[in-house]
Amino acid sequence: MAKGIAVSKKRVAILISGRGSNMEALIAAAAQESYPAQIALVLSNRPGAPGLRRAAAAGIATEIVDPTLYGNDRERFERALQTKLEAYRIDLVCLAGFMRLLSPSFVGQWHGRMLNIHPALLPAFKGLDTHARALAAGVKIHGATVHMVVPEVDCGPILAQAAVAVREGDTADTLAARVLEAEHRIYPAALKFLAEGRVRVVDGRCRIDGRADADGLLFVPNI
Ligand code: GRF
Repeated sequence: MAKGIAVSKKRVAILISGRGSNMEALIAAAAQESYPAQIALVLSNRPGAPGLRRAAAAGIATEIVDPTLYGNDRERFERALQTKLEAYRIDLVCLAGFMRLLSPSFVGQWHGRMLNIHPALLPAFKGLDTHARALAAGVKIHGATVHMVVPEVDCGPILAQAAVAVREGDTADTLAARVLEAEHRIYPAALKFLAEGRVRVVDGRCRIDGRADADGLLFVPNI
C-alpha cells in the first residue's frame, strides 16, 4: 500500500464464545499495515469467554451480549447483537467458535458479509465433535473450511479449505491441534479475500478473483 494514501479498511467484528485462538490469528493478521481489514470489535455471548481477555490485551474493543439477559429470547438477543454491530459500524462479521444458532433473518442481514470457520472438510462432518467423528469414520484426510454463513448450519459457499493428513496414532486432540494450525492460516487468508472484494458467488460456489489455482496432491499414506 502506498504511503500517504488512505485506503479504508473493512471494519470486522469477531464473534466468539470461548478461547478465541482463531480470533487471535485474525487480530495478528489485521495488525499488518497492508491487511485490508481491521478488527473493530470482539463480541462474546458468554461473559466468561477467555477470548475476551485476549482481545482486550491486544487493545481491541470488546462487548458481551448475554442471551440469558434476554430470557434466551432469540429475537431480542439478535436485536441487541445487531445494535452493537451497527454501533461499531461493522462491515464484515467473522464467527470464530461462536456457539449460538443464528436465525435466518439475522443471517439475511449479513448475507455475503459473514464468515464461519468449521473444523472439518465440509460438507463432511457438519456439527460438533468433528475430529472424533473423522477418526471413527477412518478418513485419511481431514481439515478445516471457511465458508459464508447461510441459515443452514455449517452450509454456505466455501471460501477456503485446508487439508490435514490423518496419522496412524492420532487421537481427537492431536488431530484437532494440527487442524487448528491450519485454521489459523486459512481464516486470515479467507477474510483478506473477502475484504478485498475479490469473492464472487457463482452458482453457490465462491470464485476468488486474481488467485491462481492451487496445485499439489496430498496422499495418505504416502505413495
Ligand atoms: C475452532 O475449531 C473452530 O473451527 C470452531 O470452533 C473452534 C474455536 O476455537 N468453529 P477458538 O475459540 O478459535 O480457539
